[in-house]
Amino acid sequence: MKAWHGVIEEYRDFLPVTDKTPIVTLFEGNTPLVPAPRLAEATDARMQIYLKCEGFNPTGSFKDRGMTMAISKALETGSRAVICASTGNTSAAAAAFAARAGIRAFVMVPKGSVALGKLSQAAIHGAKVLMVEGNFDQALTIVRQIAERHPVTLVNSVNPFRLEGQKTGAFEVCDQLGRAPDYHLIPVGNAGNITAYWRGYREYHRAGRVKELPRMVGFQAAGAAPIYENHVIEEPRTVATAIKIGNPASWGPALEAMKDSRGWIDIVTDEEILRAYRLLAREEGIFMEPASAATVAGLIKLVKAGRFEPGSTLVLTLTGHGLKDPDTALESASRPTTVPPRVDAVLAQLGL
Ligand code: F0G
Repeated sequence: MKAWHGVIEEYRDFLPVTDKTPIVTLFEGNTPLVPAPRLAEATDARMQIYLKCEGFNPTGSFKDRGMTMAISKALETGSRAVICASTGNTSAAAAAFAARAGIRAFVMVPKGSVALGKLSQAAIHGAKVLMVEGNFDQALTIVRQIAERHPVTLVNSVNPFRLEGQKTGAFEVCDQLGRAPDYHLIPVGNAGNITAYWRGYREYHRAGRVKELPRMVGFQAAGAAPIYENHVIEEPRTVATAIKIGNPASWGPALEAMKDSRGWIDIVTDEEILRAYRLLAREEGIFMEPASAATVAGLIKLVKAGRFEPGSTLVLTLTGHGLKDPDTALESASRPTTVPPRVDAVLAQLGL
């Protein structure tokens, strides 16, 4: 088996790097594309369903693909510090890659709306973590202003190198599947990833690596659906804190991706998200965070509505690992039972 060297080395020809770019990598990418037979059975329409499990990246989310590029380019230009606003995963990736590069990271997260695992990552990697008494959109506005006026590189997805790195997700799907899928389903928050995937598919198509192009289908949480509703949401609400965003930075490009690919955007309720979250864990053995489950919830909703032709090949990006958000997992499952250290007491609980 060929050794993997991270997304920049593997897809160098498609990325804006040179021999002079110092590559900062945690050997991200090469995540598994896992068939989902139970989900496919449930759809009852002979569909091929695959899960691109981005939670298996080094920091547990797809953000590592973009961050290896953003931090490498920051270093190339002599930057000694990076800053971002985040619902959690970007901050975890920024902190880890900054640590790897030996530079500072400042991260701003919305107080009370960041999953525990993500916060612990930013902290342990040594980032300066600020919890803003406000939401993600407000935090992003602040860090954009700071990065304009101070010697610190913004590593949110408005940094063009982030999307360049993230488009490698689409390359991998094509390499793993041997073609592009008919549909690509993906959760939408700040709308960078849907934009990046579409760019990746188009570039691979243009380079003759695949003959097909997928239709891009995005899902927002019903309480945080600015693109679907076509207006800014001042106070977004959803259990999927990763996508609790009311004014996405890549709104325009995401709309273009949908239009160009003849795709669309839909919404899923928190109830649908949590049902899909449990189903994925219990029936496919895959533990992803609630924002990722939004995609599965969307699949279930749209299959019921007959939106996909029988026999279609569908790829779902599962963006972040379930361990990021242990609180939601424990709230969504039955609680552990405490027992005394005796066989009879244990047996009484097992019902064997
Ligand atoms: N899924 C997860 C797990 C995420 O962390 C995010 C975004 C998304 C989906 C949506 O991706 O923003 O490209 O549309 N998280 C950002 C963050 C906002 O700060 O970690 P998007």
